[in-house]
Amino acid sequence: MASIPQPELNERLAAILAISQKMNSQRDLSALLDLIAHEAISLLDCDRASIFLLDRETNELWSKVALGSDEILRFDASRGIAGSTATTGEISNVRDAYSDPRFYTGIDGKTGYRTRTLLAVAVRNQQGAIIGAFEALNKRVGVFTARDEESLTALASHAAIAIETAQLIGELRRNQDELAQQNAHLWREVESRYATHGIIGSGQRIQQVVRLIERIRDSVVNVLITGESGTGKELAAKAIHYNSPRVRRPFVALNCAALPETLLESELFGIEKGVATGVNSRVGQFQKADGGTLFLDEIGDLSLIAQAKILRVLQERVLERVGGRTPIPVDVRLLAATNKDLEAEIAKGTFREDLYYRIKVIHIHMPPLREIRDEIPLLANHFLKEYCRETVREAMEFAPEVMRKLMSTAWPGNVRQLRNEVMRLSACARHNLIEEEDLWEGLPAAGRDEPAPAPVKLQSLKKAVAEMERRMIAEALNETRNNQQQAAKLLGLSRQGLINKMKRYAIAG
Ligand SMILES: Nc1ncnc2c1ncn2[C@@H]1O[C@H](COP(=O)(O)OP(=O)(O)OP(=O)(O)O)[C@@H](O)[C@H]1O
Ligand SMILES: [Mg+2]
Repeated sequence: MASIPQPELNERLAAILAISQKMNSQRDLSALLDLIAHEAISLLDCDRASIFLLDRETNELWSKVALGSDEILRFDASRGIAGSTATTGEISNVRDAYSDPRFYTGIDGKTGYRTRTLLAVAVRNQQGAIIGAFEALNKRVGVFTARDEESLTALASHAAIAIETAQLIGELRRNQDELAQQNAHLWREVESRYATHGIIGSGQRIQQVVRLIERIRDSVVNVLITGESGTGKELAAKAIHYNSPRVRRPFVALNCAALPETLLESELFGIEKGVATGVNSRVGQFQKADGGTLFLDEIGDLSLIAQAKILRVLQERVLERVGGRTPIPVDVRLLAATNKDLEAEIAKGTFREDLYYRIKVIHIHMPPLREIRDEIPLLANHFLKEYCRETVREAMEFAPEVMRKLMSTAWPGNVRQLRNEVMRLSACARHNLIEEEDLWEGLPAAGRDEPAPAPVKLQSLKKAVAEMERRMIAEALNETRNNQQQAAKLLGLSRQGLINKMKRYAIAG
């Protein structure tokens, strides 16, 4: 190889450096390939240049047909001089393409071009792996020199870095687009699931609820939702949130009865690090719901201190963490639910009247299932369809006598209990028609709303009280789905007290 005079070498190196800088600021692969080809043409003073990239999955080389076009040319990676260079890694400097047996005339045929001289070098990434070939065609004057070989090799190594970066960025962009699409899709799913029509019921009582939710859809007023356990209070809360302007912000639900009073405050408002030994700072549910909706379930179980703090957040839109001194601004819409009679709690002094009026700007009452028995067929069929869809089963239906039973059952656990029962029936059913024999014998079959008290017979008072206690405990356990803590609360007993009585009456826990 002839040695290159120093000034010319410096000039070329400077040119390659300048090109390299330009390449590194081009993140779009197609534009980058154009840029590289363009720069190679002027650096080597030739007519055309192209980069062939190796597609390892298909073992093909591909390149753009021409500068500025997005048309792609693909061929087997073992073909042509580009293929040979990409396979062996060796430089090919060809003086007369058509007399070189490796030359692949198909490309000229496709592009309508006539190749005379050709210089090809391998493109290697930083790990030394070949990722393609770089070709310059038709030196304007004479043939490609050793200097051209060096220049093209240097350019190829800079190009490799820029190409890999652009490919990586392209892939990340595609992944990001895909995620954005998936995300939009999931949002549509969630929104349609909790749109008001997620609440099933064609009768007046449920339709009133649906209409009210629709009427307040553009506002962010606080709403109090009352109703017995399992009547759809949380469902209504979600429908309100997902139909509100806050739909794309968080919906955070917290059950105030599930936490001991000592933890509730820090759960709601967060806690500063070091309040007690080993305590790390934690963000509270109010802050998590910032910009969105906080759903406080069983709000009637909040301590007076927590109530005062919540009132302050609602009034002043700031909160203080447990052990914290700086107020933190938050913007939260509050939805609250309870199955307690809050007005009675106010009278007892256990619930703040001012908080009550703050949360009860709108009041929604979810009726117990026994008051809307006409909805049972619609609900039961809806849950059955849901089950079949989720388990990808053939459509099922209820035999008329099963539906009659479902309609006359007591349902102390309301729609939730009906839903669970339908799920159980459909999972256990032997055929696509659910028949009477599939019914659980424990299904309370009588058409009474409450279990009717046995007629008062003359018996010892002690025995009557025991009987009454036994029944109340069974009922409380049933209503709370065997949650002893909650059942004890309902009965005004300590948990241990309840357990003792359960033992005495041989009630299984
Ligand atoms: N009208 C309804 N239409 C469709 N599904 C309903 C309806 N009402 C309740 N459900 C379903 O019943 C179940 C219980 O509802 P949800 O959890 O909202 O009740 P809840 O009143 O919050 O109960 P709890 O007081 O025990 O927390 C859920 O699966 C819910 O989707
Ligand atoms: Mg609930």
